[in-house]
Amino acid sequence: MFFVPGKHKEQGLPYNPFKACVLPRPIAWLSTHSSEGVCNLAPYSFFNAFSDEPPIIGVGIAPDSRGEGVKDTLTNILETEEFVFNLVSWQQRTEMNESSKPAPGHVDEFEAVGLEKLASNFIKPPRVKGAPVHFECKLFKTVELPNNTDGKHYTLVLGEVIGIHIDEAYLTNGMVDATKMKPLARLGYQDYSVVEDVIQLVRPKA
Ligand SMILES: Cc1cc2nc3c(=O)[nH]c(=O)nc-3n(C[C@H](O)[C@H](O)[C@H](O)COP(=O)(O)O)c2cc1C
Repeated sequence: MFFVPGKHKEQGLPYNPFKACVLPRPIAWLSTHSSEGVCNLAPYSFFNAFSDEPPIIGVGIAPDSRGEGVKDTLTNILETEEFVFNLVSWQQRTEMNESSKPAPGHVDEFEAVGLEKLASNFIKPPRVKGAPVHFECKLFKTVELPNNTDGKHYTLVLGEVIGIHIDEAYLTNGMVDATKMKPLARLGYQDYSVVEDVIQLVRPKA
């Protein structure tokens, strides 16, 4: 099967399979803070890390389906240049999903879904209590991605990680233990996976 992007229906595929082919994707549960002091929390799976020295992470934020221009997360990042990446574990999957519900900018999703806040060390946005890892981030740069057929575009947000919190309950011999953390991963459609099995492949030497 071959098709150009957007033409999947001509091949008999009912839904766009693009995201289902880039999997599994980590989920960035982003907490931000508006300039008026309202906290925001939402999940983003167009997400990954791009360098570790310095540590840079990137998130693709879609145009706002409410017709308000941009999502609250992007509004807040552009205003304050700060955000927290919270890692989503299996235990917090329901709260993560609930926090994706479209809500007006004055709604604090921590309160709406019943999550406790932990103060960050260097920045104003709070961290999600119970998340195994938090990265405190400063905006590095935003990149406007090409327009879609509606003339709207995603924005790629690149952030520099300036502080890292790891819950020591998820370490084994000083190493992050994915089998304890059970991070949730996004697949396509409405599907998710959870990391439970770990194998090792030793890299070949030159
Ligand atoms: C698992 C998951 C992953 C998501 N990934 C993205 C994403 O990568 N980009 C995006 O724009 N929206 C994504 N969404 C949708 C946003 O979470 C949703 O639009 C949310 O209401 C945005 O909130 P905000 O306006 O407070 O930023 C995702 C939702 C879920 C449940």
